[in-house]
Amino acid sequence: MPPKKFKTAQEEFEAKKAKESVFRKVFLYLCMLLLFPPLEMLYFYTFFLYLFYTSPPFYRVLLSIYWTNMFFELDKFPSTSGWSGKWWPFRKFCRSLRCWHWIREYFDGELVKTAELEPGKPYLMCYHPHGIISMGLQGSLALEACDFEGAFPGVDRSVATLVASFKIPFFREWILMNGFIACSRRTLMHHLGRNKTVVLVPGGANEALHSHPGIFKLHLKNRKGFVRIALLTGASLVPCLGMGENEMFHTMDNQSPGFFPQMLYKVQLFLMKRFTFSFPLLSHILPYREKVTCVVGAPLECPKTENPSLEVIDKYHELYVESLTKLYEKHKDYYGKGIKLEIV
Ligand SMILES: *[C@@H]1O[C@H](CO)[C@@H](O)[C@H](O)[C@H]1NC(C)=O
Repeated sequence: MPPKKFKTAQEEFEAKKAKESVFRKVFLYLCMLLLFPPLEMLYFYTFFLYLFYTSPPFYRVLLSIYWTNMFFELDKFPSTSGWSGKWWPFRKFCRSLRCWHWIREYFDGELVKTAELEPGKPYLMCYHPHGIISMGLQGSLALEACDFEGAFPGVDRSVATLVASFKIPFFREWILMNGFIACSRRTLMHHLGRNKTVVLVPGGANEALHSHPGIFKLHLKNRKGFVRIALLTGASLVPCLGMGENEMFHTMDNQSPGFFPQMLYKVQLFLMKRFTFSFPLLSHILPYREKVTCVVGAPLECPKTENPSLEVIDKYHELYVESLTKLYEKHKDYYGKGIKLEIV
């Protein structure tokens, strides 16, 4: 590795930002305002309602059919293949759109490769931490902004995301085009069983509630379902760390022992159980411009097992946590600004 001019990647990014013109800054903020996923969902839904209320009856019928198909997932598209297979070239086109590079530039996103992945083999890439909406994953692993295909040629990956994201008109098509699939056991088995790669965020909604700057609080100890799926399909587990993911949002404290933080956390857990996604309270809408780096570790091979016993699952879970911790230790100072890791 060549000697580095800066002590941390964040310092390097600050130096880059200092050289940026005001126009560029404004431009990047506008891009984020357009493409920030929660806002995008709002735009797409508003557009759908606008179309519906301004259309003649015939088109209303068509839009209703579309909505029904989407809401009840009659075509089973997101929970099976998504836009992989024969849609592959078009999916690549969507993932390489220019706008994603501007989103990358906003965070100075970077993909750091530490090992090779072989094409045609199934990998379950696990991204930690979940953060508020895993922005770091989107730039580096889901889209082509950091040239994933250049780093791992031939690795055909889809990204598993919340089922609820596929219930938003037009947005559903937009994320399908970009290679997202619904996150369920069935979908994961479908892709891994066909020697494809899936990107997954094992921490899920609960980890999102623990997204605070300065710490990686990973929900892993009681999450073993992803190890079981890897063993069932013989997929290798690839640890991926999103350094900076938790730094981009400042969320309201729900961890301190005081009355209000504890109450807030309880309400959030209650809502999460009902809605399947969580509601972290942000003090701002657009993410802060913090450096985000996705470090991809070495794959951990899991032998294909018909009916993995609890002991086998525990063994591979432990090996996985160990290799994740090692990856963190190796990169925490430069990319992670030395923030703490806590596995719960
Ligand atoms: C997946 O790869 C394995 C090993 O290379 C091969 O035996 C199997 O037939 C492949 N499965 C599919 C569905 O292509």
